[in-house]
Amino acid sequence: MATFIVLLGPPGVGKGTQAKILAEDSKLVHVSSGDLFRENLKNQTELGKLAKSYMDKGELVPDDLTICMIRERISRSDCRTGAILDGFPRTPAQAAALDRMLFDFKSHVDAVPFITAPLEILVERASGRWTCRANGHIYHEMYHPPRQSGVCDEDGSELYQRDDDKVETVRNRVNVYNKQTMPLVEYYRGQGCLIEIDGTKDVKQVTENLFLALRQFYR
Ligand code: AP5
Repeated sequence: MATFIVLLGPPGVGKGTQAKILAEDSKLVHVSSGDLFRENLKNQTELGKLAKSYMDKGELVPDDLTICMIRERISRSDCRTGAILDGFPRTPAQAAALDRMLFDFKSHVDAVPFITAPLEILVERASGRWTCRANGHIYHEMYHPPRQSGVCDEDGSELYQRDDDKVETVRNRVNVYNKQTMPLVEYYRGQGCLIEIDGTKDVKQVTENLFLALRQFYR
């Protein structure tokens, strides 16, 4: 049976950072809805251009487009053993669609680590983030600086700051998250798969707590 883990949490809390570590450890694919939109944007697809108008304001891309994109991604062969889902689902309609998709694959959502931190930490992390242009490696100017400023340690590509990481946009993303995504906390708690993780610690500590909580969950 395939393993699907959903990383839930507000913008900038560290979902992408932890998803990459977890994916490497578990050998599951990391599927990030934000990265998929940004890839579409880089390739100037119709979906990318449409998504940009929502992303720039910190709003969610409409459910039908997002669900369609994720359905296509997780039906690829590299997701046959499962995936680490980062940034999807983000609304009750997306969560219901994911349940239906996985049911079709004779699978289900296994575990939902829910990473939390207060607003000031989210703003500080998002506004100090630098992302690698080639492969999405994530840095922070204070907490995880690259060895050479503006250059990715892993692949030497250019680092850039996301357009939606301006302080005002981050605040709006958090408001949108509180209104549209928070209902998923109770949805997954009700399914018995929610695992609460304190995201205020440093990256190593959050990883340790996440791995420990997952081991206990699967015991
Ligand atoms: P998306 O790219 O998914 O953004 P997000 O969920 O808002 O999350 P972020 O990528 O901002 O943060 P993160 O939690 O991954 O943190 P990270 O690890 O990078 O979505 C962007 C947009 O796309 C949305 O606004 C929406 O428009 C659209 N979209 C995406 N999915 C959608 C969906 N399902 N439906 C509709 N629309 C959708 O870390 C942040 C920074 O902090 C980094 O610099 C990192 O180095 C640092 N850091 C991480 N952990 C720590 C730590 N423990 N201590 C110190 N620093 C840390």
